[in-house]
Amino acid sequence: MAVHRYCVPFLLISVFIPFVCAEIRFAEIQHDNRPIIPFDEFGFTHTGHLELNVSNIKLSNPNPDLDRSKLGFFLCTGDAWMQVLLQLEEGYIDCALDSDFVELILEFKSLKGKSSFDTAYKENNADLYTLAFANCLNNVKVSMKVRSAMYNLDGKENRRDYLPSGLTNLPRIYFLFALVYLTLAGIWVYVLYIKRLTVFRIHFFMLAVVLLKAINLLCEAEDKSYIKRTGSAHGWDVLFYIFSFLKGIMLFSLIVLIGTGWSFLKPYLQDKEKKVLMIVIPLQVIAHVAQIVLDETGPFGHDWIVWKQVFLLVDVVCCCAVLLPIVWSIKNLREAAKTDGKAAVNLMKLTLFRQYYVVVICYIYFTRVVVYTFVTITSYKYLWTSVVAGELATLAFYVFTGYKFKPEPHNPYFSIGDEEEEVAAEQLKLEDEIELC
Ligand SMILES: *[C@@H]1O[C@H](CO)[C@@H](O)[C@H](O)[C@H]1NC(C)=O
Repeated sequence: MAVHRYCVPFLLISVFIPFVCAEIRFAEIQHDNRPIIPFDEFGFTHTGHLELNVSNIKLSNPNPDLDRSKLGFFLCTGDAWMQVLLQLEEGYIDCALDSDFVELILEFKSLKGKSSFDTAYKENNADLYTLAFANCLNNVKVSMKVRSAMYNLDGKENRRDYLPSGLTNLPRIYFLFALVYLTLAGIWVYVLYIKRLTVFRIHFFMLAVVLLKAINLLCEAEDKSYIKRTGSAHGWDVLFYIFSFLKGIMLFSLIVLIGTGWSFLKPYLQDKEKKVLMIVIPLQVIAHVAQIVLDETGPFGHDWIVWKQVFLLVDVVCCCAVLLPIVWSIKNLREAAKTDGKAAVNLMKLTLFRQYYVVVICYIYFTRVVVYTFVTITSYKYLWTSVVAGELATLAFYVFTGYKFKPEPHNPYFSIGDEEEEVAAEQLKLEDEIELC
């Protein structure tokens, strides 16, 4: 029923928005007849402020008798919105703007025919609010330009903090993780130097991936700290996008290359393995373009949900594609282990690849599913914990990959003694019974 028309956009925005950081936003609405247009979500502290500047307001029906109190901007929390829906359903009110549960910012009635307005609003109740526009006139289309800025005042000096209250320490978190990755890169360079006789090309590739991750985090820290202070990224977002794009391509390629055993098991790639790379790389391009569109437009756009779905779909396809080469390697190794004289050696490699397979799945699952669940169950005040959880999982994955595939003359997986051979042979019997996938 009609209520669903209100419900869906609101629910979707609260599921998807968490990582979109509220900054000063510009939105252009054209001939829009949606009953609710969500603009932005923001976690206010007790010193919350909203600035709203709207210009070029045009209604498709210029009739002066139109009831303009049915058009307007409001702030609403998620819980309050449920109450509003209830009221609408019971027929207690016929427009969200009439409810006591929403905080009215401005009704178009008070414009008195003007086509623009500037307004400021103070929010003293700490909570997570959504700024939205309600249009309760069925056949009126609205066009307007909207600039919205939401911020909290911080500390004694009353500095503006444009990051929502649960994410205000993000710059520091990203910076700390960047330092961790720089340290890892330093350790890796040292390891490569010490073991320089057994270094493969893949090891330099790994170094590049870690360095890109560190640079990416530095850009993100800088980006977020500019947004925190000024409300816009001042170009740092461009650098961030470039490096996260490079990092995305390199990371997925690395997983594919390690999965195929390139450079340490064999010096070449098979055709089907090359095809996986040729699918994953363009998909990463698409995923990153979708990500940029999402970040830049915010949830008010018609196509926002579409882009979000494109992004999720592409991400899922990439994640499945990178698993294929590992599965192929496992299959090859398993066959070799049965026929080859060096059964035990192959078996150890098999174990390694199986471990890697499981770890890649865990990594993908954790960073895609668990982190999003985390977002929905943690309070908006602690949203940063899900960022930390995701980054810790990523860090664990990098450390595991580096540790297991480090250059080593006597890598237990590639040359083993008699004793281990027996253990391995027993393992073969066991694992043969447990089929993979
Ligand atoms: C927006 O509105 C606020 C509040 O009235 C005002 O202080 C600010 O200068 C306006 N900003 C712009 C860019 O018009």
